[in-house]
Amino acid sequence: MRTDPAVLSPEETAFLVRQRVARLATADEAGRPHAIPVCFAYASGTIYIALDEKPKDVPPTRLKRVRNILENPNVVLIADRYAEDWSLLAYVMVRGQAELVEPRADEHAAAVRLLRGKYHQYERMRIEENPVIAIRPEKSASWGALDEPDAQHPHVLDSVRGRRSVRRYLDKEVSPDLVDRVLEAARWAPSPHGRQPWRFAIVTEGATKERLADAMGEEWRANLQMDGQEREVVERRLEGSRRRLLDAPVLVLLCLYLEDLDAYPDETRQEGETTMAVQSLGAAAQNALLAAYELGLDAGWMCAPLFCPEKVVGALELDPKLVPHALLTLGYAEGDPPKRRTHKPLDELVVFRDG
Ligand SMILES: Cc1cc2nc3c(=O)[nH]c(=O)nc-3n(C[C@H](O)[C@H](O)[C@H](O)COP(=O)(O)O)c2cc1C
Repeated sequence: MRTDPAVLSPEETAFLVRQRVARLATADEAGRPHAIPVCFAYASGTIYIALDEKPKDVPPTRLKRVRNILENPNVVLIADRYAEDWSLLAYVMVRGQAELVEPRADEHAAAVRLLRGKYHQYERMRIEENPVIAIRPEKSASWGALDEPDAQHPHVLDSVRGRRSVRRYLDKEVSPDLVDRVLEAARWAPSPHGRQPWRFAIVTEGATKERLADAMGEEWRANLQMDGQEREVVERRLEGSRRRLLDAPVLVLLCLYLEDLDAYPDETRQEGETTMAVQSLGAAAQNALLAAYELGLDAGWMCAPLFCPEKVVGALELDPKLVPHALLTLGYAEGDPPKRRTHKPLDELVVFRDG
């Protein structure tokens, strides 16, 4: 069963999706209340809560919250932000019907993926063996500064782990000030000789996005056809990528600008200059992604411009000296994205350590 995502407003959804913890209130048959803090994920209008396998005195189905839900499915979930600056206070309260989704259901597998994508800690817990609580929202209420960025990821390591690629956004505008703050972070990236060989183009207008999508689509169609892909598949993939561009509230095109770099007479060193510039573009991009995350925004990365730089320059009428490399999409995630790829353990990545 799916619920109507429209129960929550875009502002409420954006706030809820950012929160790492919420409070779940249940009540037994006699109406006696019970509330606990919970980790949760939200997608397709449903809130999911895992029953983890931490050693507890009772099996998951004997937990008070679960017994209450079985006796009385009416629940409330509340996610809130507290700050000493009371102009930042906010909460979203969701009233709904809760049920247990059993491990064999498709919805269960999807919920486990979502929860593991949001909380890496679940990767090492056997949550797939227990039912998942699903809350189907019926009503929502909210108050306060929902739109303020969260100050709850003050440590860079938290942001590094919390950031994730988002490919579907809410239809909710991003303020130009926030976009500038994201690019402000990008411009502090390390670069070869400190020359900052990157330039950014910001696209928010529907007509400009369409021009860009059309230009890149043309090239992609030709490439996919060259790969021998079936016409229907080609068209479906093109439409998906076009929608991704049109539906993202903001596109930031990252371009290389190599004119300020050192010039060498030999090819090897010249290539090295360009490689360093590309490396630093990656650093600028990561700064932007982390800043976006800390500012309460979500972001995604699209490599498409790399494969048709001239088309992109033409579509946006940019200086031909610019070399488009990537597009960052910015906006507010419509829900928690499906589980991201697992990250290799450090043992596999560190190939040499003396001592
Ligand atoms: C150079 C580069 C190019 C990428 N290109 C794309 C892309 O074209 N489309 C896309 O959906 N994601 C793209 N990504 C995002 C990766 O798929 C994503 O970072 C990866 O799956 C890990 O997920 P996470 O970012 O959520 O941790 C790209 C990432 C990088 C660094």
